[in-house]
Amino acid sequence: MIDNLFGSNPENSGILVVGSLAALLGAHLVLSFILKSFKRDSYKSFGFVSDAASLLSNSDSVLGRDGVKESIAGYERLFSGARKNVGTTTTADSIQHREKEYATMVNSFYDLVTDFYEWGWGQSFHFAPRLKGETFEESIYRAEHYLALRSNITPTSKVLDVGCGVGGPMRNIQQFTGADITGVTINEYQVNVGNQYCAQKGIDQKCRLIQGDFQKLPEKFEAGTFDAAYAIEATCHSPDRKICFSGVNHCLKKGGLFVGYDWVVLPETGYDEKNPEHVRVKEGIEVGNGLPTLATSQEVVRALEESGFEVLDSFDANRNVHSDREIPWYQTLYGSFFTLSGFRMTHIGRICTHSIVSALEFMRIAPKGSVRVSSLLNATALDLVEGGKEEIFTPSFFFLARKK
Ligand SMILES: C[S@@+](CC[C@H](N)C(=O)[O-])C[C@H]1O[C@@H](n2cnc3c(N)ncnc32)[C@H](O)[C@@H]1O
Repeated sequence: MIDNLFGSNPENSGILVVGSLAALLGAHLVLSFILKSFKRDSYKSFGFVSDAASLLSNSDSVLGRDGVKESIAGYERLFSGARKNVGTTTTADSIQHREKEYATMVNSFYDLVTDFYEWGWGQSFHFAPRLKGETFEESIYRAEHYLALRSNITPTSKVLDVGCGVGGPMRNIQQFTGADITGVTINEYQVNVGNQYCAQKGIDQKCRLIQGDFQKLPEKFEAGTFDAAYAIEATCHSPDRKICFSGVNHCLKKGGLFVGYDWVVLPETGYDEKNPEHVRVKEGIEVGNGLPTLATSQEVVRALEESGFEVLDSFDANRNVHSDREIPWYQTLYGSFFTLSGFRMTHIGRICTHSIVSALEFMRIAPKGSVRVSSLLNATALDLVEGGKEEIFTPSFFFLARKK
């Protein structure tokens, strides 16, 4: 099953790559043993091998070395049959299993992938529409600033970040607006590293991450605590958006704005649930990203309306993905060869990372299970690209809603 799910045999690939990487590893491994610290800013980090050595095994890690293997095995069970037969993880039983176990699924997933995301992507864990002439980082900032502007965040606003990751967007939006922002993530590891970043930037008085479940927001916050809320590529993990959105509604003041980008399949531009190729891509995205099941844009809007919001605007921010003006959002997964961080996102860059992780796991430097995590992410990158090319999926369904 593991081979089918993640596409490669870790033992064999480990043996194959050890020889070819031995020379490269030598100098870097000494360094990684001495430093034993993952430089947590992929835009600036240049220690390719020494940083890779610290993925899933750095001083902030909450998983013990054995925890990685157990965690990936537990995650795998929730997607039983995935990538074997199309439709297996779209059955009601399979979806309900993940919805019931969402908290464990999401928490395990982010214990496993947070380092890889930072390594390849940066501190903001989301995609963004990108204009020609714009750098990847500029497109990320623009997507975040757009949310801040549409939700009328001002220097005096109190803002909730729903599913905040390690807080990349939170820090950028805080610096853009001056607002006070509280981020909630279910994952303790993200809270620990995110709060370190806030302190490093000297904005920890205005920006904080707390551990919590966005399905249970009323347990954390008094009614009417926040002026505005946003959720970036996070509510796709929700087992029931109506519960999540109702909780956001509870936390907002009357008239408060809630904005976000959500992951959805797109029947409006051709997604067909009866087309096995479309279902294959959808299931690949789900298994590679810890999702109970992908919703449609209509379902997202309906859930907002049924949770006490008036939906003021909604559209796919990638609707011009194939116009002359844009670089497709999924292009970043091909990456650029001009910077090291860009290279890591390319197909070849990911193969390099995968090979290094394989070698490190084989040499028992990286925890057992690391290769499977790397394979999981590589496989889903291809599904995301296919979904984007076919315009049957978007990670950037924008919504603006007002608490009634
Ligand atoms: C793809 S990441 C996006 C993170 C962040 N919004 C960003 O753009 O960098 C999804 C986030 O949602 C969080 N999440 C998923 N389910 C959650 C839940 N039930 N409660 C709280 N956070 C959750 C994950 O822990 C993760 O931080």
